[in-house]
Amino acid sequence: MSTKSVITGCGAYLPQKILTNDDLAKIVDTSDEWIRERTGIRERHIAEEGEKTSDLATKAAQAALEAAGCEPGDIDLIIVATATPDLTFPSTAAIVQAKLGAAAGAAFDMQAVCTGFIYALSTAEKFLAAGQHKRALVIGAETFSRILDWTDRTTCVLFGDGAGAFVMEAQDRKTARGRGYINSYLRCDGRLVDLLYVDGGVSATQTTGHLRMQGNKVFREAVARISQAMEWVATDAGIDIHTVDWFVPHQANERILKGVVKKLDLRPEQVISTIAHQGNTSAASIPLAYCQGVADGRIKQGDLVLLEGMGGGLTWGAALLRA
Ligand code: ACO
Repeated sequence: MSTKSVITGCGAYLPQKILTNDDLAKIVDTSDEWIRERTGIRERHIAEEGEKTSDLATKAAQAALEAAGCEPGDIDLIIVATATPDLTFPSTAAIVQAKLGAAAGAAFDMQAVCTGFIYALSTAEKFLAAGQHKRALVIGAETFSRILDWTDRTTCVLFGDGAGAFVMEAQDRKTARGRGYINSYLRCDGRLVDLLYVDGGVSATQTTGHLRMQGNKVFREAVARISQAMEWVATDAGIDIHTVDWFVPHQANERILKGVVKKLDLRPEQVISTIAHQGNTSAASIPLAYCQGVADGRIKQGDLVLLEGMGGGLTWGAALLRA
């Protein structure tokens, strides 16, 4: 049977604690004006002490299950995109599965940093299309606050914590009526590891480490690679990119989003941006922005939506779907 992988529900979770730019100016030599002008960020959410990536992921997953009208027992595949797992092992996905009270099927993590959700969505679709799994939870969840160097103003002002989740279901094409995943484009250039990495890890240092980034070099790479990925998925699907209804980007920097809009001659009002109030939540930012678009009524069933991401690796990619 030929199937389509349809997003039947999405859910979001942000920790309660909010850290404003003015709060950060008390910790490092920065200002609200600098952060807003260079990034578009005004505030970000930070997990409470003891609140783990799996806690955020579980809450987002529960909201997605409710939106999809599903029970945890209906899920037979869980993929958590994260660069900030609870533990070295087992996977955060295994912990989320237990917290949800679901025990069927497979669960594993996906590591592609800020592109992780695009990688996870694309992977889930292939599992569903192969016919061995029926309904997936695809989650992006991060607690980047745990790997930030809070004395480094060039990085600590950029990131926040959060989680977003999709329920993705294999439906026969007749039931799907044109809805569902269309295609994706995934890339990595490992020669650029030094632009953005964490300086610790199990095998290298036996520590967790801190995020290090050559921000202006990443910035220079971003617009061209993201635009090329977005154009590729649309063209490969035989779709004129200007007929796409909504762009749901990874939220790294408002200026990157504006650069992509300009390069591809898109309309700024098509871009769903959450950066002002969430900052960069890495793998969580794309599902968080998508959920925002659904919640406020912008993304409606049948709309054509283009997602994109770029992050450590460097990794980058895009995915096209009909909501
Ligand atoms: N407050 C005040 N001044 C600052 C701050 C700050 N928070 N941070 C840096 N500066 C200073 C620098 O020290 C520098 O000062 P100098 O000129 O005296 O040396 C000056 O501001 C300019 O620094 P740049 O790094 O050139 O600033 P830029 O305009 O490039 O903005 C930023 C920095 C916001 C990081 C930008 O480069 C960016 O967004 N890069 C891309 C980030 C990204 O996309 N990351 C990928 C995803 S994240 C992931 O995968 C985990």
